[in-house]
Amino acid sequence: MSNEAQTNSDTSATVQRDSAGRLRHLITLEGLSREELTALLDLAQFYVRSPGELPARDQTLTGHTVANLFFEPSTRTRVSFELAAHRLGADVVNLDMQTSSRVKGETVLDTIYTLQAMHADILIMRDAEPGLPAYVAGFVAPNVCILNAGEAHLSHPTQGLLDALTIRQHKPDFSQLKVLIAGDITHSRVARSDLQALTTLGAGEIRIAAPDDLMPRPGEFANARRFSNIDEAIAGVDVVMALRIQRERMSSAHIVDEASYHRAFGITAERLRKANPDAIVMHPGPMNRDVEIASDVADGPQSVIQQQVTNGVAVRMAVLATIARNVQARRQLT
Ligand code: CP
Repeated sequence: MSNEAQTNSDTSATVQRDSAGRLRHLITLEGLSREELTALLDLAQFYVRSPGELPARDQTLTGHTVANLFFEPSTRTRVSFELAAHRLGADVVNLDMQTSSRVKGETVLDTIYTLQAMHADILIMRDAEPGLPAYVAGFVAPNVCILNAGEAHLSHPTQGLLDALTIRQHKPDFSQLKVLIAGDITHSRVARSDLQALTTLGAGEIRIAAPDDLMPRPGEFANARRFSNIDEAIAGVDVVMALRIQRERMSSAHIVDEASYHRAFGITAERLRKANPDAIVMHPGPMNRDVEIASDVADGPQSVIQQQVTNGVAVRMAVLATIARNVQARRQLT
């Protein structure tokens, strides 16, 4: 499969737009304007409901068929896309990749063409192959949309949106915001999409903190302040985003001892006291408790981790609804 996809993330930002400049696919947050991001967040906020209320529903996706194609494990993203599509009135299919014809050697494009032939028109993809969503987007039929649900270490746009929405609910003025993203930055698509969203939305200061061998190459994260000492990095921040150690993307050179890592880089209650008193604590999940984040912090009063999960459904409803409206707009012109 690695021969199929070109590792060219530069093309993602252009491939995802139609000839009128509307979003046709969502592959990256790179290139989305502040107005586009704000419109998506506003629509997501419209779909948010308080705990105990029934979830929001409408029929925006009636007639559409959404297919979930997750070639890497997922709980939050897959389930929330499925719920979001159901709540907007779509038909939904979840391809079980372990029992799909991919394991018999079918190419990803043949899998996509097969679903397309069954009138699946919104395809949600997660894959470890860099560049695959943009590559596939170049081959699908004009009415078919590709939504990136996690692409290697490069991009996780709906996670970037749900993180921005969660921050905005607590800290509406981004201009004064100090955000720390801490942990395995090198392997994190969440960190990259968060950086894109927060930069475009005008966050005052973005800090990244990681051990040397988990720090991205110079040139990446160019507008973030880099820290190798977590105690210095956390001082005075408003948002602490802890990242999972991604063992599945590590070579043996990167593998770290969990207890040593927790001592050196874990977000503990003692460290959190150095952040602003009203700082919020985030984690995209799944968590390695007592490795990158202490369990009492993850469950503590400053944690908004469950709110991130709740917002994930609303954000995915907003993305699906926006993409479907853009499809409709194109149809009316042809
Ligand atoms: N945050 C996130 O992508 O979680 P899942 O891997 O469970 O989808």
